[in-house]
Amino acid sequence: MTFSEKTILVTGGAGFIGSHTVVQLLNEGFRVSIIDNLDNSVTEAVDRVRDLVGPKRSQNLEFHLGDLRNKEDLEKLFSQTQFDAVIHFAGLKAVGESVANPRRYFDNNLIGTINLYEVMAKYECKKMVFSSSATVYGQPEKIPCVEDFELKAMNPYGRTKLFLEEIARDIQKAEPDWKIILLRYFNPVGAHESGRIGEDPKGIPNNLMPFIQQVAVGRLPELNVYGHDYPTKDGSAVRDYIHVMDLADGHIAALRKLFTKEDIGCTAYNLGTGCGTSVLEMVAAFEKASGKKIPAKLCPRRAGDATAVYASTEKAERELGWKAKYGIAEMCRDQWNWASKNPWGYQSKP
Ligand code: UD1
Repeated sequence: MTFSEKTILVTGGAGFIGSHTVVQLLNEGFRVSIIDNLDNSVTEAVDRVRDLVGPKRSQNLEFHLGDLRNKEDLEKLFSQTQFDAVIHFAGLKAVGESVANPRRYFDNNLIGTINLYEVMAKYECKKMVFSSSATVYGQPEKIPCVEDFELKAMNPYGRTKLFLEEIARDIQKAEPDWKIILLRYFNPVGAHESGRIGEDPKGIPNNLMPFIQQVAVGRLPELNVYGHDYPTKDGSAVRDYIHVMDLADGHIAALRKLFTKEDIGCTAYNLGTGCGTSVLEMVAAFEKASGKKIPAKLCPRRAGDATAVYASTEKAERELGWKAKYGIAEMCRDQWNWASKNPWGYQSKP
């Protein structure tokens, strides 16, 4: 069996990063099973993935409605199919909600993942790519963030990512036949170039780009810029935005490493561009790409936000042979393409 004929279980494959990664997996020739509970996603995204890859490749895609907290859902899947590896996206990610309802976060993110490890071990599938986050760097004292920095959680959501990284390291240490790659995403934005799939958060978006997008299409009146007195080039906070298609390709690079290299152990990689962009620069870039004015109000800082966060990309370049290809202009172009074609996301009307 060649590398790309393997069978991959993708948890959370109907979601934003998951759906884009599934497109790339199918295009590479992988067989893919998605398990998703549709908590923050819709099957329409999976239907569109099928359209994008065409009838032949979509024969390699299965969708299973299921919840990782129900071990039986996982047992059923693993007893039917021998998976070669798992890419584990499924999880909740709204920081504010996690502060208000930490038990929901611990239940979903921790229990779901622990069940997944249990069932993977039982069925001898011991290769895992885990969705971690730059949130594990907390408010970094130095930038760029390097993978061996001390880790810190700032809120319950961040704590679930940090705990799950520690759990992965403990499991791999005790059972060395596991190979686990932890991918720390910086700020994923953009959309597939077709404009058929993209990010579609439920409710008012917490993150910058979905918010800007909704202002651009007239769903929201103006953007609040949280913080204009940071010690940065223009006073607004700086982040490392990465095109979701680059991120998707980072998962293929991680799989390649899992299948071709021994002695991986459990290791973390930043997936970012290494470039910092301020909120105001991002607004200007989106205005340019969309031709729309984004009314922006300067507001006080948002609690818990860091001044500037961006990635060191050296380790991923060196060990995964992966590097982001797209810049801010392409991220905004593709996000606008998705937004203008789908102003209400996957819904046809409000
Ligand atoms: C946030 C989460 C982080 C998570 C990541 C996932 C927080 C504190 N952190 O990171 O844990 O891993 O999303 O993508 O929520 N901004 C505005 N106006 C807005 C929204 C955002 O000015 O309406 C600013 C923020 O203050 C920040 C920047 O835009 O400076 C990026 O914000 P966001 O997209 O929420 O990402 P992070 O805060 O980096």
